[in-house]
Order: sequence, then structure tokens, then C-alpha cells
Amino acid sequence: MIIAPSVLNANFLNLEAEIKAIERGGANWVHLDIMDGSFVPKISFGPDIAKQIRRCTKLPIDCHLMVEHPERHIVAFAEAGVQYITVHAETTMHLDRLLNDIKELGCKAGVAINPATSPEKIGEVLDLADLILVMSVNPGFGGQLLIPYCLDKVRRIRAMKLNTLIEIDGGISLQTLPLAKKAGANIFVVGSSIFSTEHIEEETREFVKISKL
Ligand code: DX5
Ligand code: ZN
Repeated sequence: MIIAPSVLNANFLNLEAEIKAIERGGANWVHLDIMDGSFVPKISFGPDIAKQIRRCTKLPIDCHLMVEHPERHIVAFAEAGVQYITVHAETTMHLDRLLNDIKELGCKAGVAINPATSPEKIGEVLDLADLILVMSVNPGFGGQLLIPYCLDKVRRIRAMKLNTLIEIDGGISLQTLPLAKKAGANIFVVGSSIFSTEHIEEETREFVKISKL
């Protein structure tokens, strides 16, 4: 089980200290939400910040591209030193090519689907992708409630492929994590439930504990 805190809701003026706090709390990965103000309404940050984050932690970095034309950006994130690059199936007509290109850059390649996108849409690339990210909120903002039918999509993907990484992203709390785990997810992105609290290290530790139960 992997806990991947998303720094989207972190205090960027104190980012290094907050990343050290999730490390001490036992976080497994750091999740970066890259938003372009087009595929999703907000703009977050880009590869230069990813590079700085790479310098301040040894944890694997999991980069979630919520951007149009992802093929224009994968080189910059690979050069920033991230380990996983995940692209949305809705943002490219050439998913097979894009996943292969990410791998050629030396990164693991993930594919993400929005709540309204069926698992069947990515059926052909399940073997090619290193990770499947199921959005359990409509992407764009932290702090939303998990959409329950997305758990069923996790179940369906798990039934389609028993041995794969399935990441769930959006609305994960200490209450919803066990439901997502039962559905078959093994990577849990946690944003506001960790970074919008006063006790980042302790909250991270709670998530790590719950994920192991
Ligand atoms: C949503 C992002 C998520 C989000 C998670 O667009 O992809 O990673 O920040 O945040 P919470 O856990 O607050 O839903
Ligand atoms: Zn994300």
C-alpha cells in the first residue's frame, strides 16, 4: 500500500519543511498535481517547481498531468527527475504512443481517467501502463468529496487486471481510504486531509497506519 500525499494544498512558502514532515510520517511517494488552467480550471505549478521538490526529498515523485497536449510537457518533467508521469486518457488521441514515449524517457507511465470516463476506454493499454489512476472527484481542486460510483470503477479495473498499480485520487480521508482499498486500489493520493491540517506528520502517520489494516 502506497500513501502519496499531494502537495497541491501545501503551504508553498514552507514546502520543504512540509515535505520533510510527510517523510517523517512515513509517506511512500510525493504526488504532484500539474494543472494548466485549460483541461482543469486552475493553474498549479510546472516542471521548475518539480525540479526543486526533487532536490528536497528522496521519495519517488508521482507526477499527475492535468494538462492539454501532455506530449508537449513530458520531456520537461522527465528532466525534472520525476519517477512516474501520468497522463489523462481524455487529453490525447494517441495514448499508446504517449505511454511509450514516457517510458522511453526513463519514467514509469501512468494513465488517468476522469469520473465520467469508462475503464473500458483504456482496456487496450492496461498492459502498457505501469499505473492506472482513477479520479474519484472531477479534477481541478483539492478538498472535494469522493464520488461513490468511482469505487466501482476501481473494482472493474482490478477485475480486468489483477496485478497492477491502481491509484485513487480525490476525496481520500481516513474514512474513505478503507473503501478504496477494499475496491482494489493500492495507491492513495491524499491532499487536503494531510496538508490542510496543523499536524502534517501525525496525519500522514495515521494514513499509513489505516492503509496497512
Ligand atoms: C484533484 C487532484 C488531487 C487532489 C487531491 O484535481 O488531482 O490530487 O489535489 O486532493 P484531496 O485529497 O483534497 O481531494
Ligand atoms: Zn492528482
